[in-house]
Amino acid sequence: MLNSNLDDKRKPEIIILDFGSQYSELIARRVRENNVFSLVMSYHTSSNELKKLSPKGIILSGGPRSVYADEAPFCDAGIWDLDIPVLGVCYGMQLMVHQLGGSVEPATGKAEYGKAPLQVDDSTLLLNEVINGSTMWMSHGDAVKELPDGFVRLAHTANTAEAAIADHKRKLYGVQFHPEVNHSTYGMKMIRNFVSQICCCKADWTTTAFIDESIAQIRAQVGKQKVLLALSGGVDSSTLAFLLNKAIGDQLTCMFIDQGFMRKGEPEFLMEFFDKKFDINVEYINARERFINKLKGITDPEQKRKIIGTEFIRVFEEESSRLGPFDYLAQGTLYPDVIESAGTNLDPKTGERVAVKIKSHHNVGGLPKDLQFKLVEPLRRLFKDEVRKVGRSLGLPDEIVRRHPFPGPGLAIRILGEVTNQKLNCLRDADMIVREEIRTAGVYNDLWQAFAVLLPVCSVGVMGDKRTYDWPIVVRCVSSEDGMTADWSRLPYEILECISNRIVNEVDGVNRVVLDITSKPPGTIEWE
Ligand code: XMP
Repeated sequence: MLNSNLDDKRKPEIIILDFGSQYSELIARRVRENNVFSLVMSYHTSSNELKKLSPKGIILSGGPRSVYADEAPFCDAGIWDLDIPVLGVCYGMQLMVHQLGGSVEPATGKAEYGKAPLQVDDSTLLLNEVINGSTMWMSHGDAVKELPDGFVRLAHTANTAEAAIADHKRKLYGVQFHPEVNHSTYGMKMIRNFVSQICCCKADWTTTAFIDESIAQIRAQVGKQKVLLALSGGVDSSTLAFLLNKAIGDQLTCMFIDQGFMRKGEPEFLMEFFDKKFDINVEYINARERFINKLKGITDPEQKRKIIGTEFIRVFEEESSRLGPFDYLAQGTLYPDVIESAGTNLDPKTGERVAVKIKSHHNVGGLPKDLQFKLVEPLRRLFKDEVRKVGRSLGLPDEIVRRHPFPGPGLAIRILGEVTNQKLNCLRDADMIVREEIRTAGVYNDLWQAFAVLLPVCSVGVMGDKRTYDWPIVVRCVSSEDGMTADWSRLPYEILECISNRIVNEVDGVNRVVLDITSKPPGTIEWE
């Protein structure tokens, strides 16, 4: 799967060989932030294959293993003789040292985790303009003991003698720290030095270039045939709709299945925006009754997800044959789905990632693989932040481009226990208030998500002189980089007070508001 993203014409300038680091994808994003196209590939990729792709540079990612461990992932040793610059990051550097005849050993008592000031010994090329004493992020239990022949030290820290190394002649570089993470203040500068100064990459990976290339590719792929797109209102399917509309106009039909679990006003907004304002052909399918009926008496969250997923496919099949026939199905698959970045365990036989299943997330609300359509997936080379840029450049409003993530099964999973119309109305109103207050306070864009959850337990309250016995609403606000980990947001009390006051006053059936102060892990972002 990792390598299946190379079926289009654009070849990567930088290839990241993935050794299972949680940051492999982040390295690729950082390279692309320099307008340089990069791809993540399995560490199994042979030197012959790499030679054929002829990237300008290779980056070896970090990884959770020690180079001496059983089944430690090794790259093809032919890579060192390709005459292509290589940068090893953390495990990648240790592997470079190990494979080229140096030695690595456990950094007993000197393992380094967290921020460390970098002492620069050689500020040419890789560390050019990286300020002496600036912070770099360390996370390693092993350290380089002896450098291979031809290597010199570029930098050290208090605990790590060889924090950055180079064989200038062969253009091989290694860093023990993680330049890709935000905590490394000059990390981005260092990555830029590698891609621009050392590898001399072309900086031509821009939003405009992507749009032009994609339009040409979509037209070449689809010809005069018809394309169907399931529009959800999220940034991916919306961007896809705009891109396809630009490429093939009337050959595109969007289908918006309203399962009744969207937020207040969203279905109306979507139809108004796509259909009326931009004249993009959207078929509105009102399936609210069908979905809520299927969920009668269902309380188990996984069962809910499965029922919603199955019903979605049924409605989709029925409606697509009613509206069709269609030759192509457009899907908003993104690059992280292609590289399956969710798990950090690698299969030693294939070098591919083994994802760990916690919830049946993203496959629910999606479509099965065996549908009778050919696929068109023009966003499969993009990261989420790149999709946002493309969406914005195509004219999508902030309301869609900066929309917080929203689960496919929607509010149905944010109602714990059985879903009923009464609870849906109640949650919709509470959710609206949370989002309104967060926007009014100007913090919407600082948060990963801000939403309300309805708990199906009643407790006693008093309103006016009357006793109430109603549900509580949980307010969940988190900050996160990628949804994999998250922290609860320390919102000012004034904002929380407004949210709480408005919810108990304005939402029927709610008499209490509580705040979720759990990070992920151990919690998840959604309640369900
Ligand atoms: P959890 O709850 O696992 O969620 O911490 C992580 C991120 O994924 C979003 N999420 C979903 N996104 N379909 C989606 O497209 C889903 O079914 C789904 N469930 C959860 C969640 O909102 C959070 O941002």
